[in-house]
Amino acid sequence: MSGVALPQGFSLQPLQRSHPRRQFDCGQGEVNDWLHTKALQHQDKHLSATKVLQVQKGVIAGFYTLATGQVDFGDLPSDLARKLPRRALPVAILAWLGVSVADQGQKLGNLLLAQALRDCHEAGQTFAFVAVILDCIDDRAKAFYQRWDFAELPGNPYRLFLSSQTLAMMMAGS
Ligand SMILES: CC(C)(COP(=O)(O)OP(=O)(O)OC[C@H]1O[C@@H](n2cnc3c(N)ncnc32)[C@H](O)[C@@H]1OP(=O)(O)O)[C@@H](O)C(=O)NCCC(=O)NCCS
Repeated sequence: MSGVALPQGFSLQPLQRSHPRRQFDCGQGEVNDWLHTKALQHQDKHLSATKVLQVQKGVIAGFYTLATGQVDFGDLPSDLARKLPRRALPVAILAWLGVSVADQGQKLGNLLLAQALRDCHEAGQTFAFVAVILDCIDDRAKAFYQRWDFAELPGNPYRLFLSSQTLAMMMAGS
């Protein structure tokens, strides 16, 4: 599997029970709670997959969680929906992403988002989807994602999407 270059001393791994997930703090209670209490259970049930960015001493510097889902044809912007069938459509979901407070501001969020999108793109070669969707937790998170060409879904300002076409162009240029 191809990946973005990690800074020296960092590794990216699927979440495991041995990871010290309860010590993770990104400053957002809901995001912390997901990693502390739900991410592993959902992974065990094949509902979502979480990858953690670890530093050598084992501390989790960041993580992201991907899942699959559906959106209704009518929820997509007309330029994207125009050529698509009028039914529920498959999407990839970037469900959660966080960087520990101690490590924020060092581009790790960008790095995790780049890798999450790369994972989506690679998975899309086998299990196709029309867009990557995410729900923003607040305006700060929204600003973070909008730097990456995510756009609002009509009538839902905190639900953002990136079409698979745009994703493919991004990956071709990276
Ligand atoms: C949002 C978050 C992941 C950013 O991580 P980070 O490692 O500090 O971000 P980076 O250092 O990679 O910065 C990436 C870019 O986003 C910008 N940015 C960083 N945090 C930002 C924020 N809170 N709001 C807006 N922009 C932000 C940076 O200026 C940078 O811009 P640039 O690439 O143009 O220079 C991190 O602040 C976080 O975990 N927040 C709490 C959890 C959360 O909100 N998660 C998202 C919703 S699930």
